[in-house]
Parts: sequence; C-alpha cells; structure tokens
Amino acid sequence: MPEEVVRFLAPRADAVYLDGTLGGGGHAELIFENAPRALLVGIDRDKEALTAAGERLAEYRDRLHLIHGDFAGIAGHLSSLGISALDGFILDLGVSSHQLDSGERGFSFQQNAPLDMRMDSSSGETAADLVNDLPEPELERIIREYGEERWARRIASFIARERNESPIRTTFRLVDVIKGAVPKVKWDERIHPATRTFQALRIAVNHELESLERGMRAALDLLKPGGRGVIISFHSLEDRIVKHIFREYAEGCTCPRQLPVCVCGKQPRVKIWTGRPVTATQQEIEGNPRARSAKLRAVEKL
Ligand SMILES: C[S@@+](CC[C@H](N)C(=O)[O-])C[C@H]1O[C@@H](n2cnc3c(N)ncnc32)[C@H](O)[C@@H]1O
Repeated sequence: MPEEVVRFLAPRADAVYLDGTLGGGGHAELIFENAPRALLVGIDRDKEALTAAGERLAEYRDRLHLIHGDFAGIAGHLSSLGISALDGFILDLGVSSHQLDSGERGFSFQQNAPLDMRMDSSSGETAADLVNDLPEPELERIIREYGEERWARRIASFIARERNESPIRTTFRLVDVIKGAVPKVKWDERIHPATRTFQALRIAVNHELESLERGMRAALDLLKPGGRGVIISFHSLEDRIVKHIFREYAEGCTCPRQLPVCVCGKQPRVKIWTGRPVTATQQEIEGNPRARSAKLRAVEKL
C-alpha cells in the first residue's frame, strides 16, 4: 500500500524516520523520495534483507543507517546513533516475499527445506528445535493460539508420535504429519492444511507478537508531537495488538463520570487516523496476492 504509506506518514524534508522492517527497502525508498535531506534508520533481523536494501538505497547512503537487529530494541538502537526522537516510523510486519520465496529458509510449506523459519539466521531456536523439543501441550498451545488452528490437539499429538520415531527436520515431513492429522474431509479448499501450523511456528520462532508489542510502544514513545506512525499487519493476532495499543495511547481521562474534576491526569498521547484499518485495493491484490490480508493503521502523536 505505497500510496497510503506516503499519505499517512506524510514524509517531510530534514526529518528523522525509522523503518523497523526494512526488508527490500521499498518503503524506505518512498520516504527518501518524498523527504529531501531526511535521515532514515532501517532495521531488519535479516542480514540478507539489509544487504539487498543497502544496494537499492545506495544513492541515499549518506542519510541511511542500517541496523541488524530486532525492532523491539528500537530505543537502544537509536540511542547508539545519538537519536532521541522520531518524526515518523513504519512497521510492515511479518515475513517478506523474499523470505517466503527463498525455499531453503523453511518458511514455505510448498518447498522442501530444513525446518528453520528464523528471520535472523544467526541466532535463536529453529522451528525444528520447537517441533522436536517442546512438550506436546506447549506445542498444542502454540498451534492453537498463534495459528488459530482448530485441529491443534491432533496435530501436536501426531507430531509427538512422529518425532518419537525420528526427529522431524524438514518442511515436507512436517507437512505430511499435518496432512495425516487433519481429517481429509475437513480440509479447507481455500487454504493448505499446513498454513496455520506454519504461521504458528514462525510466530513462535521469531517471538513476533512480543517484538511487536515492545517495538510499537518504544516507537510511539519516541515520536515527536506531530510525528506519524504507520503499521501494516498481516493477520488478526497482529492487528488486534496494533488496534489495542493505539487505542490505549489515544485514550484520555478514565475517571468515573460522577467525579467533578479529573484526578487520573491521563491525556491522549496520539490521534488515530484510521478508525477502520485501510486494506489493499483489488488492483493491488491482483499484482500481489499477499496484500489480500494486509491492514494498515496510522496515528499522529499529540
Ligand atoms: C514485509 S517485510 C518488509 C518489506 C519492506 N517494507 C519493503 O518495502 O521491502 C518484513 C521485514 O521485516 C523484518 N522483520 C520482521 N519482524 C522484525 C523484527 N521484530 N525486527 C526487525 N525486523 C523484522 C523481516 O525480516 C522482513 O525483512
């Protein structure tokens, strides 16, 4: 949703921006094009993304800081650069098309690969570690909560039985286990039976929801008055967190109505620009089917 990103972020000359999910650098490029002399800090967990974005944004290198890390640590990353406030930020959540299409990284159930799914391949547990080592009830919880998968119990139980035979190390072996667990008559025509379990494992491996909550709060706290924040999410768990935290920051006095004066002292900290999330146009979806589930929400700091 490039047009909406520019409309809500309203990039300005000489300002300081954060792209916490730099990816291939598409949004960062838009910001540079619309904000002469602006400085941009681009963060990504994925070193391959930083290299690709660095090449794409080469002409802006004097005004670009690239950081390898989790946007949950925004405050520390920015203070190491001597930056204490932002004019705007964008978080475009989830995996990139590049990560999904790089079959060897294990994000896709359509390509056989080691069961990895780490956005940052240099650290942390892989999906194979979780699938083979987590107690069955914990695996079930992850698949149910992060995948919103109604067959979570059966899938966890089939995984537990299968891994007793030998560790599950590849995407295709996991896909076979899931297909065996979900009764064929219940397969949904529109989505592959492994979709939800793969989403759940990816969220757990990358601690995506914890990072979102921490990163969002830090970015909102760092915004200058009049600064804008734009977040694009791709599934309901993320969108719920974005909606609730924006509402929390937008809320003013919470004193009971019968009190004559406010004693809580709570002031709204942001104005919400998007009562309902903005979604992709049909034309955009035709060009990029992954845009179908994108939801954009935006705020302005008061
Ligand atoms: C949807 S892509 C972003 C695409 C980008 N906006 C563009 O225009 O090319 C998401 C990117 O965010 C990164 N990412 C996701 N969660 C992250 C986090 N918590 N910290 C840092 N990077 C993250 C992923 O590695 C991926 O490269």
